[in-house]
Parts: sequence; C-alpha cells; structure tokens
Amino acid sequence: MTERTLILVKPDGVKRGLSGEVLRRIEAKGYSLVAVEMRTATEELLAKHYEEHIGKPFYESLVEFMSSGPSLAVVAEGERVIEGFRSLAGATDPTVAAPGTIRGDLARQWSTKVIQNIVHGSDSPESAAREIAIWFPGLA
Ligand code: RTP
Ligand code: MG
Repeated sequence: MTERTLILVKPDGVKRGLSGEVLRRIEAKGYSLVAVEMRTATEELLAKHYEEHIGKPFYESLVEFMSSGPSLAVVAEGERVIEGFRSLAGATDPTVAAPGTIRGDLARQWSTKVIQNIVHGSDSPESAAREIAIWFPGLA
C-alpha cells in the first residue's frame, strides 16, 4: 500500500551537513519526496511531536537538542515507506545500529544527555498522519 511518512533530519544531521546524504538514501531506495522544508522546531511543536515522551527522564534534553538548530522536515511517499524508512534509519542507539543503516553508518554516541541519531521516522500509520499534520498542516 502506498503511504506517507514524516522524516526529520535532526539538528545533529543538519549541522554535520548530512541532509543531502539522507535525501539521497531516501530517493535511492525509490521513495518520492512530497515536501521538504528546513525548520527550527519550537518547544510547542516538539511537545506535540514527542507527546508520548513527555515526563520521561530524557524529555527536557530531547527538546533542548531538537530545538538547538534547524531540522530538515520531509514527507516521503512509497510502498510501505513507514516501515521501510525505519529500516533504513536503523536502531535508535547509534552505537549498536547496524552498518548499512543511516544511524549505523553516520552516527555514534556524542552526548551523554540524549541520544543524537541524525534522523526521525514515523513509527506507524497513526503517527505518520499525526506528525505530517503537525509539521505540514497544509498537506493533511
Ligand atoms: P525517533 O522517534 O526520533 O524516530 O526515534 P525512535 O523512534 O527510534 O526512538 P524513540 O524511543 O521514539 O525516542 C525518540 C528520540 O528521543 C531520543 N532519546 N534519547 N535515553 C536517551 O537518551 C534517549 N532515549 C530516546 C532519541 O533522539 C530518540 O530518537
Ligand atoms: Mg519514535
């Protein structure tokens, strides 16, 4: 089934100049780009985006990190792209993310405060719809 997902190149990825590399991998896999926009996330936007993490020990550091500079927000489309991009991204912890994945190839543990792992990808059709509406209200 053709679906859409919300991908972010997080501030660590943008600062390191990896936005193009992430877009390259999305397109090389055969997904299409529907929307791409550079945006610095506010605390309010992040409270919606990371709703399920509010109250967790890493939440404040996560917001500090995610609002520290621009992210590249991307809506990508393709057959089972939600699951497919999570697979391209690799495990959350870059120390153990498999080689060949974005996190495995390009990230490692930099900060002890919060995991900085270059990309975000929606984890279910419900999250994708919710997150696309948050980042790209015009597309929903
Ligand atoms: P994402 O939502 O960004 O695609 O990542 P994910 O599903 O793989 O991981 P999730 O559990 O949703 O966590 C969201 C982001 O929070 C940061 N995190 N840091 N203990 C920690 O320091 C910690 N735990 C989570 C990471 O940036 C993670 O991607
Ligand atoms: Mg997540």
